[in-house]
Amino acid sequence: METLKEKYKDYFKGKKYNITTFGCQMNEHDSERISYILEDLGYKKTDDRKEADFILFNTCLVRENAELKLYGQVSSLKKLKAENPDKIISVSGCMMQTSTAREVIVGKHDEVDLVFGTKNINSLPDLIYRYLETGERVVDISTDDVKDDFVEYNNKNDFQAYVNIMRGCDNFCSYCIVPQSRGREESRRPSAILAECEHLVDQGFKEITLLGQNVNSYGNKADFDMTFPELLDRISKIEGLKRLRFTTSHPKDLSDELIEVIKNNDNICKFFHLPMQSGSSKVLKDMNRKYNQEKYLERAKKLKSEIPDLALSTDIIVGYPTETEEDFEETLKVCREVGFDQAFTFKYSPRPKTRAAKLEPIDDAIVQDRFDRLLDTLYPTFNEKNKKYIGKTVEVLLESESKNNDEVLTGRTDTFKLVHVKADKSLIGSFVKVKITDNTSFTITGELVE
Ligand code: SAH
Ligand code: SF4
Ligand code: F3S
Repeated sequence: METLKEKYKDYFKGKKYNITTFGCQMNEHDSERISYILEDLGYKKTDDRKEADFILFNTCLVRENAELKLYGQVSSLKKLKAENPDKIISVSGCMMQTSTAREVIVGKHDEVDLVFGTKNINSLPDLIYRYLETGERVVDISTDDVKDDFVEYNNKNDFQAYVNIMRGCDNFCSYCIVPQSRGREESRRPSAILAECEHLVDQGFKEITLLGQNVNSYGNKADFDMTFPELLDRISKIEGLKRLRFTTSHPKDLSDELIEVIKNNDNICKFFHLPMQSGSSKVLKDMNRKYNQEKYLERAKKLKSEIPDLALSTDIIVGYPTETEEDFEETLKVCREVGFDQAFTFKYSPRPKTRAAKLEPIDDAIVQDRFDRLLDTLYPTFNEKNKKYIGKTVEVLLESESKNNDEVLTGRTDTFKLVHVKADKSLIGSFVKVKITDNTSFTITGELVE
């Protein structure tokens, strides 16, 4: 009997796909996997949504604005779908994992043909066949993927790759929807992760970033015996791997062993993202973060004293419902004391079915004022940190052409500084030496040295 794969063998010829990704690196990586699957079917990528036959939105709902943006973009496809009913419009990702957001898409957006989740990406071909067979909308968020799957690649380039080491999160920070959308924490087997990393290095990848919502708790609940520092150490020993990064680290689980492993392996990048969220011990307690100001400061200082050239970055939420002016000033105080190289700053956004959503939000004007004052505190430090690079020669992995000037390339130092340098496109994907001559709060600029 003819399989569906055989039946639709020619259907995908000449067809194009377009993916829009919202959210974090996990979603970016999921989009890479989806691209790989679509290309395997026969689709070719296009950046122009209008000419695409398969249009996908891979969604995020960590803050409300990500969600609102999605609804707007999907609605704008109504006309396109009406004119070309053969186009397949699909929505996936974290929003589809929670019933409220999924119901909005399913209930109000007839233009959407296919909905899937974060745990059945490998079933996508079957879902597409099911849609083609019936012409009826398919909504499926089952959990078909095996967490230890060996993942083939279609990365944004051929020198940097993401590798999932775990999925889900068990921390239930009071404001956060991720435990609902990504489910309970599960660690992938070390053998699967190592095999994937070795394969990547064999293929010529130079930089690997390990992904998990809380990489420090890797292995905690598993039936194998491997901690995150041990895993990181093993991966860093893969011959030929130039750069190893990881994200995200929860401060409550950041161990001295991890600091040692980073310090002792040259290819583990000297950059650490340590989300603080708030500097106030009271707010941290309300957020269920399980550390206080003192512990955060102690961990940050230990990192910096053990690894002096380390760059430190963080996440901060402003305007958590129980945050008073005094609490906010504690956040400013910790920022000044630590001296961050960079930070992602967010205004608190209430998320459905989280504990914090039951609390009365703070007035917008107050939140905006605190947010502005936070940036006023952070930016001068970013600038100062970047200024220290002037006159130094640093190694940079060139990543892409600059958006505004095609003679300029952008890349990153080991410390994750964004570098601008005049260089030929053919150097993208290579390590070069750059002498730094100038800086802003967000970038450093320099000249190539032979
Ligand atoms: N697992 C990571 C973070 C994932 S979400 C960690 O624990 O650090 C990325 C960031 O989004 C969080 O660090 C937090 O600063 C922010 N964030 C999450 N939920 C939010 C909300 N409801 N409102 C505003 N910011 C939020
Ligand atoms: Fe969200 Fe907290 Fe888990 Fe991070 S650790 S994903 S902030 S619940
Ligand atoms: Fe968003 Fe899901 Fe990541 S909610 S931040 S895409 S884990």
